[in-house]
Amino acid sequence: MLDIFQYPEIKFPKEFLWGATTAGVQIEGNNSSYHDSEELAPKFAFGGMPYEFPKKACNSYELYEEDIKLLKSMNLNLYRMSIEWCRIEPEKGTFNEKELKHYLTILERLKEEGIKVCLTLHHVSHPVWFHRKGSFGTLDNMKDWEEYLEYVVPKVAEYVDFWIVLNELNLPFEYSLTERLNMVQYHGRGYHIIKKYSSKPVSSAHSYSEKQPKRGYNDKLDKLMADYIDYTENEFFFHAIRTGEITAPFVDAKYVPEVKGTCDYWALNTYIRQMMDGRRENFRSDSYTATHFKAIETPFYTEEICPDIMIQMLMRMKDKPVLITENGIAANDDRYRVVYISAMLQALNEAIRMGADVIGYSHWSLLDNWEWGSYNPNFGLATVDRRTFERTLKNSGKFYGEIAKNNGYNQEILRKYLKELPSIINFKNI
Ligand code: BGC
Repeated sequence: MLDIFQYPEIKFPKEFLWGATTAGVQIEGNNSSYHDSEELAPKFAFGGMPYEFPKKACNSYELYEEDIKLLKSMNLNLYRMSIEWCRIEPEKGTFNEKELKHYLTILERLKEEGIKVCLTLHHVSHPVWFHRKGSFGTLDNMKDWEEYLEYVVPKVAEYVDFWIVLNELNLPFEYSLTERLNMVQYHGRGYHIIKKYSSKPVSSAHSYSEKQPKRGYNDKLDKLMADYIDYTENEFFFHAIRTGEITAPFVDAKYVPEVKGTCDYWALNTYIRQMMDGRRENFRSDSYTATHFKAIETPFYTEEICPDIMIQMLMRMKDKPVLITENGIAANDDRYRVVYISAMLQALNEAIRMGADVIGYSHWSLLDNWEWGSYNPNFGLATVDRRTFERTLKNSGKFYGEIAKNNGYNQEILRKYLKELPSIINFKNI
């Protein structure tokens, strides 16, 4: 375990943004996206657990004031949230003004509280009708996307400080390569529609995990696979934004000028590094035994705390301002979250000292929420009672709140919230 008690004091740049992130279907409740559909929802959650439907989620649809209170109690000045297409356009061409009004009320309240808004227009979920048509698997659905954005963007524009068109369009677990490449174009179209109505910066949130060759950089095969996977998960997106060229191995390249330059800032979600093993059929390897630990019962992907990935990512993305739009750990023992936040912020700060232009950090997540098929992995800075929906700030939430208030942290703050390092609770079997 990293000895965070040895970390030096750090201060962040003036005007640094401190935030927390959520997503509609994961917190609202009674959503009607394909995730709630018996017929269309996936059958299994991450780790192979049977799929649990979101149902009431955190009931944030009704309790959004409680969420705002939590943000305030942590002194946060940024909230990254999403609006749900399936509420606003439940049937193709039928727009629900009442649902739009609901979002406008939340956005207005955030403004009254002096909290900046980072708004995601598509965070994984979408209406059943769009899913049935093949969603992003084809460019033929672009018209649907445009009509939705043309309806919603001008109405919410005055409240938005940072735009996220799509969340994690680069994720292979979520999208096929064809979908990922198409989504670059959906992103580009979204960018230009937003620009008609808003002068605020636009991006799409990129899920960044550093790909490392398992046997090191001298192992040609592992390195080859690390580079290959890095291209199809990370670089294809950065390359398309920087040049307008949509490329991937074994695919004919396509030059789409309207995509070039369509990120005003990099919106980066980062959690883990991934080890690439060229001697395995799917190239993916578990973490090293030496660095692996289990923070929850079920197998999950956040089973390592590896802050150097934050530095490596930020060194790569120095050409634009960066907003960390997600970063967090699934841990039932909240002390791991305190360790994780300390380590990641220490790394982030070091990257700033090495020239990265980071404008803010938004932690995933505000609440223990619905984690795509399960309520088991807990990422929240606050717990949510599954019966009453009462929210309670965790120790890590209080710790994070003090960091935000001080725009930095030191040992005094840390020691208030963590007396000693938690031990590693479970090595994996060798
Ligand atoms: C997603 C969130 C998710 C989080 C934790 C990100 O990939 O944007 O929706 O809950 O990671 O797994």
